[in-house]
Amino acid sequence: MKSEFLMLSLLILGPASPGNDIDVYLQPLIEELKDLWCNRLDTDNATKKETFKMYATLRSTTSDFPGYAMLSGYSTKGKFACPYCHYETGHRFLSNNNKSFYMAHRRFLDADHPWRYDTKAFDRETEERAAPEPLTGFEIEELLKDWKNNFGKLQPKKKNDGCPWRKSSIFHTLVY
Ligand SMILES: *[C@@H]1O[C@H](CO)[C@@H](O)[C@H](O)[C@H]1NC(C)=O
Ligand SMILES: *[C@@H]1O[C@H](CO)[C@@H](O)[C@H](O)[C@H]1NC(C)=O
Ligand SMILES: [Zn+2]
Repeated sequence: MKSEFLMLSLLILGPASPGNDIDVYLQPLIEELKDLWCNRLDTDNATKKETFKMYATLRSTTSDFPGYAMLSGYSTKGKFACPYCHYETGHRFLSNNNKSFYMAHRRFLDADHPWRYDTKAFDRETEERAAPEPLTGFEIEELLKDWKNNFGKLQPKKKNDGCPWRKSSIFHTLVY
């Protein structure tokens, strides 16, 4: 993490968050990543004074949760807020002030954990379900197979409540 090993690869200007449009700004970077993986790049070895072919690959991204939504296309809000629990997110709604809240955390405890059967301290229910299984890459690929992305002014304002995705991320165009 030393500054001499960090490179600024992209800077998006503007007062507002790009939202899903981040994919438009990411296009040059994605092109470079594809090039670096598929064709490699002649790179100088200063010690040996010769060049070698360098591969580069995207390993991971770091962001806050709203940034996660922008980068991944997964909503991170409301009914499907949790990317790990996806369709099984323990979402509930407080109708008095229109706010979401989240339950079902006891699903992640060991099967015999006493809190699972502590109805008093929780929501008067026992919790016998196992933790939700995260979706696999293949399942997500299948779900987003025929997805049509719209960017800019064409971006739909209305939420599609049956689906936790808002777009098929530009990262899906990389070689996996
Ligand atoms: C660069 O050269 C040094 C010295 O020969 C060698 O140890 C190192 O592995 C080389 N690095 C690459 C990336 O080829
Ligand atoms: C909650 O949403 C409903 C429907 O959109 C609205 O009629 C109501 O005024 C909202 N309540 C509050 C407290 O914001
Ligand atoms: Zn979750």
